[in-house]
Amino acid sequence: MCAKASLKKIHQEIQNCTKCPLHKTRKNAVPGEGPSDADLMFVGEAPGAEEDKTGRPFVGRSGQLLIDLLNGIGLDRDDVFITSILKSRPPNNRTPHKDEVEACISYLERQIAVINPRIIVLLGGVAISNMIGPWKLSEAHGRFYEAEGRTYFMTYHPAAALRFPKYRDIMSEDFQKLKDELDF
Ligand code: URA
Repeated sequence: MCAKASLKKIHQEIQNCTKCPLHKTRKNAVPGEGPSDADLMFVGEAPGAEEDKTGRPFVGRSGQLLIDLLNGIGLDRDDVFITSILKSRPPNNRTPHKDEVEACISYLERQIAVINPRIIVLLGGVAISNMIGPWKLSEAHGRFYEAEGRTYFMTYHPAAALRFPKYRDIMSEDFQKLKDELDF
């Protein structure tokens, strides 16, 4: 099966998933979107209200900031693959529970295997701790990390920059490092 078809199959499974109780409260699962051969993959925390309503990742305020940051390094939303650790919205946007991550993480692992991105950008503490282990964000941000044949890049979640404007500049600098590494 080609990458596009494999990804479509995974996304259909996600849309029908009942592996954790979040399926009872979600309106739509949010598999993620972007090219099946993307060089860059962005991993957030979990869908919020707008994503739950539309079934699309990062379409709320955090998403707008993510797009601004991408535009700042000459990329469009459509150039990259965007998803999150959880594919269903936790009630009131609470932090994902361990059992929810355990139920969901294989979907992300399968997406990574199909897309085979050059760099996986981990947005914020939930993505970082669940993919590569606990890090202090103040030390982690702007750093690349190699593990099991994959290259990760760590930065803040856009929601943090919406809450605390100083993180916006820090994220812009981090994204510049990403651009320098990708050399496009
Ligand atoms: N925040 C996330 O982490 N993921 C989304 O899809 C939207 C907001």
